[in-house]
Amino acid sequence: MRVLVTGGAGYLGSHTVTTLLDAGHSVLVLDSLVSSSEEPLRRAARVCGAELGGDRLDLVRADVRRPAEYRERVLAWRPDAVVHFAGLKSPTESLADPGEYYAVNVGGTAELARVTADAGVRVLLFSSSATVYGDDAPVPVDEDAPLAPVSPYGRSKAMAEQVLADAHAAAPAQTVAVLRYFNPVGAHPSGLLGEDPLGTPANLMPFVSRVASGQYEQLQVFGADFPTRDGSAVRDFIHVMDLAEAHVAVLEWMAARPAGEAGLRVWNIGRGEGVTVFEMVRAFEQVTGRRVPHRVVGRRPGDIAESCADVAAIGRDVGWRARRDVTDMVRDLWAWQAANPAGYR
Ligand code: NAD
Ligand code: WQD
Repeated sequence: MRVLVTGGAGYLGSHTVTTLLDAGHSVLVLDSLVSSSEEPLRRAARVCGAELGGDRLDLVRADVRRPAEYRERVLAWRPDAVVHFAGLKSPTESLADPGEYYAVNVGGTAELARVTADAGVRVLLFSSSATVYGDDAPVPVDEDAPLAPVSPYGRSKAMAEQVLADAHAAAPAQTVAVLRYFNPVGAHPSGLLGEDPLGTPANLMPFVSRVASGQYEQLQVFGADFPTRDGSAVRDFIHVMDLAEAHVAVLEWMAARPAGEAGLRVWNIGRGEGVTVFEMVRAFEQVTGRRVPHRVVGRRPGDIAESCADVAAIGRDVGWRARRDVTDMVRDLWAWQAANPAGYR
């Protein structure tokens, strides 16, 4: 298949590009590089024996909000499928600049949907987030739970889901998969690709790995008074390579069906297993042999006690399930961190 991957230079996108190339697909990345660079794509090409700018992997540098920058190129390339990762992803940042989040995540999705419809794209996958379920979601949460996002970021994802549902209703031959990711962590097993947040990492595992490498003195554990088995918060961490493989599985499943038959699907992408913050820190220490000094501080505003996916639907429909465990996640994260202390720079 010929797959257009928006945001393909980012963390999740670059790993998915490797699994697409490894599965024999051709990839055109559409990315403005606002929060990434070409380097992950050069490395993705290298681990797959491809070349950036060659037949199987190319980049169009464009802003998803501005179709004039990419429409002709996409129409000429004739993608069979689109995976739409491009977007902004920080709930905290979205509180300070909601307009930018709505413009990119909602407006960008609407513009892209029009171009893909004109290009006759058969399958579209969208990066949504568990954050659309909000604070009071059941544990584990299934896809029928009501949406109640609490940040502008979460609301922008819920709105983008709606934009795609309306686009699908208008052009039902294009099938749509809304994928709600839980907590992706880890890195490519080669140690060449990983998560490279700009500035101080806001997320748990990138921070843990930088404490272990000595870049930060200690981890602050945000709250040990949650009603969980050890008091720290529970999340459904999933290895980024499992998440990447889920995209290939969904794409191939949808493409194998007659036009429109798969309709619009919504699936959680997680492991379906909750792990606490303390358990993640302990696993990291055990697997890597590095110490992660930490101390408990107050809860981070807005954090929920427990988040975990019900993953029955995608298992039943597509036959995909995560294969990697916490040991794999922390081993691969550390291989990336140890080999790339300054990330891609
Ligand atoms: P990332 O920031 O690493 O990658 C996003 C990519 O999109 C970057 O390469 C960036 O340059 C590009 N981009 C941003 N705005 C753009 C624009 N206007 N036009 C073109 N390109 C643009 O993020 P990620 O972790 O890879 O996340 C990918 C997607 O998955 C995002 O939509 C995010 O909201 C969603 N998601 C991520 C997580 C997570 O924990 N990482 C969880 C749930 C959902
Ligand atoms: C996990 C746990 C923290 C950092 C976020 C977004 C969500 C989604 C995934 C995009 C929490 C604790 C963290 C630290 C800590 N992204 N923690 N010390 O908040 O579950 O989800 O990423 O869609 O929208 O909100 O992930 O990794 O930030 O936190 O104790 O220095 O680790 O309090 O309990 P979160 P996270």
